[in-house]
Amino acid sequence: MINNILEEILISETEIDNANKRLGQTITDDYKDKDLVLIGLLKGCIPFLSDLAKYIDLPLEMQYMIVSSYHGGTTSSELHIKYDLEIPIANRDILIVEDIVDTGQTIKTITRMLKERGARSIEVVSLLNKTVNNDLNPKYVGFNIPNKFVVGYGLDFQEKYRNLPYIGVLKKEFYDK
Ligand code: IMP
Ligand code: MG
Repeated sequence: MINNILEEILISETEIDNANKRLGQTITDDYKDKDLVLIGLLKGCIPFLSDLAKYIDLPLEMQYMIVSSYHGGTTSSELHIKYDLEIPIANRDILIVEDIVDTGQTIKTITRMLKERGARSIEVVSLLNKTVNNDLNPKYVGFNIPNKFVVGYGLDFQEKYRNLPYIGVLKKEFYDK
């Protein structure tokens, strides 16, 4: 069983689905007269973006980016684009889709970058938000969670466990090594 690496299940499949429904309806209302482009940050966004988008009743576009942050030292705000958008985004309404906002560095830097490219509006939808680590208040959040390391539903530990259908807290013995 892959889930014996978990201390507990923090958010169940049903709770995730309810959050996606709620977020999808709100986004549908908010973007009725806009030109919505979802920008998913790979790879963590995949289950969330695909489930959420089914609840958004609009002719939206999906685009993806792969970015990696250089953590450690003083360069944590530096962001490297490994895969970029296929389209210009000037005058379009951007909704960045993230699995989790932790320090908020990723979101902050990408938002600045997309602003420079002339987006008309930029908001963030994140399934999870570690509120104690940032003061960003993303517009759309599924769950505010405590400062614990979580995996599942897109979130990985060393590239594994993204396929768990729920969000779980990883046992400390795994990441303390
Ligand atoms: P930020 O730039 O500090 O907000 O980092 C966001 C990124 O860090 C997320 O997109 C995840 O890839 C990763 N991350 C932060 N916290 C966790 C966690 O608890 N589990 C798995 N990945 C995490
Ligand atoms: Mg990520």
